[in-house]
Amino acid sequence: MGEYHVRGGNRLAGALCINGGKNAVLPILAATVLNGGTSVIHNCPMISDTIVSIKMLEAIGCKVTIENSTVTVDSASASSYELPKDLAKEMRSSIIFLGGTLGRFAKAKISHPGGCNLGVRPIDLHKKALKALGTEVIEEHGLITCTAERLIGTTINLDFPSVGATENIMLAASKSEGATVITNAAQEPEIADLAGFLNSMGADVRGAGTREVVITGVSRLHDAEYRVMPDRIVAGTYLVAAAITGGEIELTDIITDHLEPVLSKLEETGCIIRKARASIRLTAPKKLQPIAQMRTLPHPGFPTDMQPQMMALLSLAAGTSVITETVFEARTKHISELMRMGADIILSADGRTSVVKGVNHLEGTSVEAHDLRGGAALILAGLAAEGKTVITNSIHVQRGYEKIEYDLALLGAEISYWE
Ligand code: EPZ
Repeated sequence: MGEYHVRGGNRLAGALCINGGKNAVLPILAATVLNGGTSVIHNCPMISDTIVSIKMLEAIGCKVTIENSTVTVDSASASSYELPKDLAKEMRSSIIFLGGTLGRFAKAKISHPGGCNLGVRPIDLHKKALKALGTEVIEEHGLITCTAERLIGTTINLDFPSVGATENIMLAASKSEGATVITNAAQEPEIADLAGFLNSMGADVRGAGTREVVITGVSRLHDAEYRVMPDRIVAGTYLVAAAITGGEIELTDIITDHLEPVLSKLEETGCIIRKARASIRLTAPKKLQPIAQMRTLPHPGFPTDMQPQMMALLSLAAGTSVITETVFEARTKHISELMRMGADIILSADGRTSVVKGVNHLEGTSVEAHDLRGGAALILAGLAAEGKTVITNSIHVQRGYEKIEYDLALLGAEISYWE
């Protein structure tokens, strides 16, 4: 399964440019089915989730070529609405292929994505929304079959601003009859990036990035060329790498606005941050300060995908921090691993609130990655720990980070990857 070996104690310093966003490229690749033509997507992160998405597209008949970080999809030859079970199981976010396939073929079949280490991950909001657009949804033997003779625009209110559900509605509604209004829509920057790509194909999506998104269906979509936005969570992870080692870092090729919720929390720990539109400089304090109250929320709140990384950082703060995870009910698997390294963390009975009492040092040992961001957090903890830390189950980390060991080594970390 592969493992990272980290010897802690080095102060990280230097500059990195940030690759394209995992959570932006996945729905954009799913959208390439819609135009029955050619889509040239630049700045794609070459991570395992991108490769699985490409295999999904090829499995339904698309022709895909990759050149460096540019992926070209020709969906003219796409002919199947059945997404392969094995691939759908491999990547939980494959549910995002539902809307695009339905929008293209008026039918889609996919295996239920199941839960993951963050929680149950229900898809009730996806199903409710697609039914509202006129889709018949049948679930049997672990498969979800959607059929819609006609997709008809309507108003859909999301009980929770689900990122995936918002994206699936945008994909299915792009070629529907009439207009669809999503209220209580997710506002994550990746939603606006998907809208940017859809509109580059000739779709009519307005309001993406706000609570209300209006999609006016069009009959045809044309060839498109698009550049994926930078990965704000990878950027945030590397900022924490500098902060946890008392170092300094400059990030370029980013969209600084996307990181505002993270930057304000890093400033609360005493980091000095200088911002430009597309770059950030962070200088760590001599001693990290605790954060009295930090809670994850849908954007523009603090992103849940940065919660494990901030917990690793606050494990070394000069005081006690309280972190409440409001988005996923079980994003806690990294806590026991951090405690193996000497962190002092108490998790509330409902599993939502962690009291993190800062300790003077962490100790290197062998720990296990249980999910993508939890694994990244353990690497960050290893950078600051005394001695050597081995992070096993690296496959989780590779889903969302292109060569993290290479980037961190460029900043002076002693880290290696072992198959
Ligand atoms: C996306 O997941 C991201 N993944 C996640 O990133 C991210 O943490 C999440 O949005 C929140 O920002 C991708 O974009 C590929 P949600 P998604 O639907 O769409 C509940 C990472 O580490 N919910 O907004 O699955 C759900 O259980 C990953 O990069 C329902 O109840 O997130 C969760 O508690 C992890 N019913 C909450 O909403 C539904 O039908 C947020 O889920 C759908 C979701």
